[in-house]
Amino acid sequence: MCAKKVTPAKPGEVPTTGHQWDGIEEYDNPMPRWWVWVFYATIVWGIGYSIAYPAWPMITGATPGVLGWSTRAEVATEIKRFDDANAPIKAKLVETDLTAISSDPELMSFAENAGAAVFRTNCAQCHGSGAAGVEGKGYPNLLDDDWLWGGDIENIHLTIAHGIRNTTDPDARYSEMPKFGVDGLLEPQQISEVVEYVLKLSGQEHDAALATPGQTVFVENCAACHLENGAGDPALGAPRLSDAIWLYGGSRDAITYTVVNARFGVMPNWNARLTEDEIRAVALYVHSRGGGQ
Ligand code: HEC
Ligand code: HEC
Repeated sequence: MCAKKVTPAKPGEVPTTGHQWDGIEEYDNPMPRWWVWVFYATIVWGIGYSIAYPAWPMITGATPGVLGWSTRAEVATEIKRFDDANAPIKAKLVETDLTAISSDPELMSFAENAGAAVFRTNCAQCHGSGAAGVEGKGYPNLLDDDWLWGGDIENIHLTIAHGIRNTTDPDARYSEMPKFGVDGLLEPQQISEVVEYVLKLSGQEHDAALATPGQTVFVENCAACHLENGAGDPALGAPRLSDAIWLYGGSRDAITYTVVNARFGVMPNWNARLTEDEIRAVALYVHSRGGGQ
């Protein structure tokens, strides 16, 4: 039960509020002074803070605060600090002859680290995070020593800067395999023959009776780009056909599809999106992991 009855304080005793619950009374102790002052101080601090710093949420963003502080500005300053610190070595990376960079350990180590970061952000979605190509066909593995367009540092740099078969850079690498089936350049019989010959070239199980006439079809129609022995031509981006590495698949069906329809692998030009030091860094990264030739 609650009875509203103020019990008069005895001398030296704190008065009660008069609340009483089942015989228990409530003392009317004032808040300690220090507590009250701390409480007022927090209010003053709170008002001061919300004037000085971003505080009140609005429909878009928040009140900016008179000091103009923001986490974004802080990040930008941090980034600028790193950029300034790296500016000299980036300049050196751009100035040094591409082939000479690998003999400068400090420059090379910077390039590989920066290149790995560029790769993760810009290349991994097509070439796989370890540069080993992704499951989908048509995205080459960059770790092996098998190159469509040449695997020395200058060729890799050119491929990355200008891209392949894109419409955005007039200096992009370009070549086009004819659509032998779709455009009726070869009879279905000739296609079956040449496919058997390609299977033979790559050391796979094949029909010898078809592969023999297939060789003639190959020499007449394919050797101009893939060379007579099937070694391929990096000047045209024509893959080597005499090995077990396939861009689009080496089964009878996959090869037939390629000969009938042709493929048209496109890679963006990176000179529009990356700076020269970033392109060099990623080229050196790719070259150090799978370059050669
Ligand atoms: C949109 C997908 C895509 C992205 C992103 C991409 N590439 Fe490519 N890249 C390709 C394709 C497709 C080819 C093969 C083109 C062809 O058939 O000739 C290729 C080919 C290459 C080649 C030539 C390989 C060879 O064997 O000669 C290099 C080097 C290369 N890419 C590097 C890079 C780098 C470095 C990046 C990131 C800066 C990158 N690529 C980002 C799709 C991509
Ligand atoms: C004008 C040059 C050219 C001619 C002629 C040509 N090719 Fe190609 N071929 C290419 C190019 C370039 C590619 C790579 C296409 C791409 O990456 O988009 C290619 C790709 C291929 C592939 C896919 C290889 C892989 O790794 O997946 C096969 C198979 C192939 N060609 C077979 C043939 C056959 C068979 C003929 C003759 C009937 C022929 N090509 C004629 C240029 C040519």
